[in-house]
Formats: sequence, C-alpha cells, structure tokens
Amino acid sequence: MSAAEPNLPGVDPTVPSVARMYDYYLGGKDNFPSDRAAAEKIIAIVPEVRETARDNRAFIGKAVRFMAEQGVRQFLDIGAGLPTQENVHEVAQRIMPDARVAYVDNDPIVLVHARALLADDSNIIAVRGDITDPAAILADPEITAHLDFARPIGLLMSAVLHFVPGDQQVGDIVKTLRGPLVPGSNLLISHFYAPDADNPKVRAGQQVYKGTKPGALVARSQGQIAAYFDGLTLLEPGIVPVKSWRPESEPDRQAEIDMTVPQLVGAVGRLP
Ligand SMILES: C[S@@+](CC[C@H](N)C(=O)[O-])C[C@H]1O[C@@H](n2cnc3c(N)ncnc32)[C@H](O)[C@@H]1O
Repeated sequence: MSAAEPNLPGVDPTVPSVARMYDYYLGGKDNFPSDRAAAEKIIAIVPEVRETARDNRAFIGKAVRFMAEQGVRQFLDIGAGLPTQENVHEVAQRIMPDARVAYVDNDPIVLVHARALLADDSNIIAVRGDITDPAAILADPEITAHLDFARPIGLLMSAVLHFVPGDQQVGDIVKTLRGPLVPGSNLLISHFYAPDADNPKVRAGQQVYKGTKPGALVARSQGQIAAYFDGLTLLEPGIVPVKSWRPESEPDRQAEIDMTVPQLVGAVGRLP
C-alpha cells in the first residue's frame, strides 16, 4: 500500500477495515498492521478463514460466469471489495466482452484501487456508496448512466450484508435494491451463517469485528437468508456453504453439505 493512502479522507490506518482484512485473508498487499493483527485474531479462532475467502471468490466467479452464460451483461456489485484475482468484470467479460460492471463500496481505499485498475475500461465504473442507503445507490447518476435497469442485471451482495446490524434494515435493503430489477435478473448473496447464534467461536469472532470499521458482524439463520430470495427462483443447490455451490473440485463434490456449523453461505436467485 502506498504511503500516501493512509492520508486519504475517511481512512484511519489504526482501525482495521473489513475490506483490508479480507484482502489479507486472500493474500493481498493492500492492508495495514492493524488489519493484519485483527485478521490474525480471526485466523486463530477460525483457521479455515483464508480458505473460506478463496471459496467465496470462487463462488462469485462460478455464479457470474453462469449469469453471463444466461445472457446477463450488466452487474451491480455492492460491497465489491479491493480488486483481487478473477474480479467480476474479468469473469463476465470473458463470456460477454462488452459486459458492464458498476462496483460500489464505502471504503475509500477500495475506490482508489478499483479506479486505478479500471481506468482503461469504460465498461467498468467504481462508485462510492453505502449499502445502508440503497435508495442513494439506485439514484446515483453514475450508476443510472452506466447500467440500463430496463434490462437484466446481476445484483451481487457478497459478504457485505452481515456487516449491517439490523435484521429489519437488511431485509429492507435487499427489498429496495431488488425493486427495479426486471425478469431475467439475478441476485447473488453470500452471508455469514450460524445455526446457533450462541456459539462461543461466533461470539469470539464478533468481538474482533466489533473493533473494525464498520464494527459489527451478524450471523443470520437459513430462514433469514432465504427470505432475501422470496419471490425469486432459487437456483440449485440453494443456500449452501460457498464451497458447496456447484463444486468443481472432486473433494468438494464428494463432501456432504454441512449446515450444522457457522460459516459463509451463498445462494443465487433468478427473477422469473
Ligand atoms: C468481506 S469484503 C467482500 C468483498 C467482495 N464482495 C467479496 O465477497 O469477495 C466486504 C466489503 O464490503 C464493504 N462494505 C462494508 N460495509 C459496507 C457498506 N455499509 N456499504 C458498502 N460497502 C460496505 C467493505 O468495504 C468491503 O470491501
């Protein structure tokens, strides 16, 4: 990370950010000592977290490829994260070279890196936006100029809604963002899941995330996550651990889907 970036408005390098912690899990270099310290605390509690982050990226890649193969050529990726390998536009443009992507994030460092990476491609924009104000995202003039809401859109909210504490608020966010989507659009969500919120590992992890920006990590139930897809056709295999979504590797194909443990789950729904 360049020395100038800690001075960006809104960036406090002493407070871990979930975007930079996730970058660290993925083996990226865009993180500060505070991020690495918090991420290491999570790794001590959940040693498989790095693998889960990679599984989540693989889930996004498989789902975006599927959507593009179905003819979806526009994507709205909210809580997009720092650029990594196999970014949404790279996956989509391999199938649809003119695929358009709007990346949205509220972390200023994400925006700096995304804009630097995307400067040469007019089919991609990166916009600052907060998922807790979904109406503002939908009304953002850059987004409305870039995406045609009269045509199908792939709406992605991966590993972001669990940072919003209010259950009702998250339901309303999803409802608002789904509002303008036309048939043929797809919704992708991955979310931290726990069958039992009282799990000591979950509580220990939440304690670490309390000290980060945005300051919360909420585990939700299968029923709560399923409700975000109400009225959509939930694609096979439904809501499953991210590594179990249409697995490509043989060990993952063989493994039983285990929903008895807290983990990151993902699903994709299609607007009929
Ligand atoms: C764990 S990363 C996930 C990145 C990517 N979506 C993925 O799944 O690989 C979460 C991202 O959500 C962003 N984020 C957290 N709260 C947000 C909010 N209220 N509005 C917009 N983005 C947010 C963070 O800045 C971070 O980039």
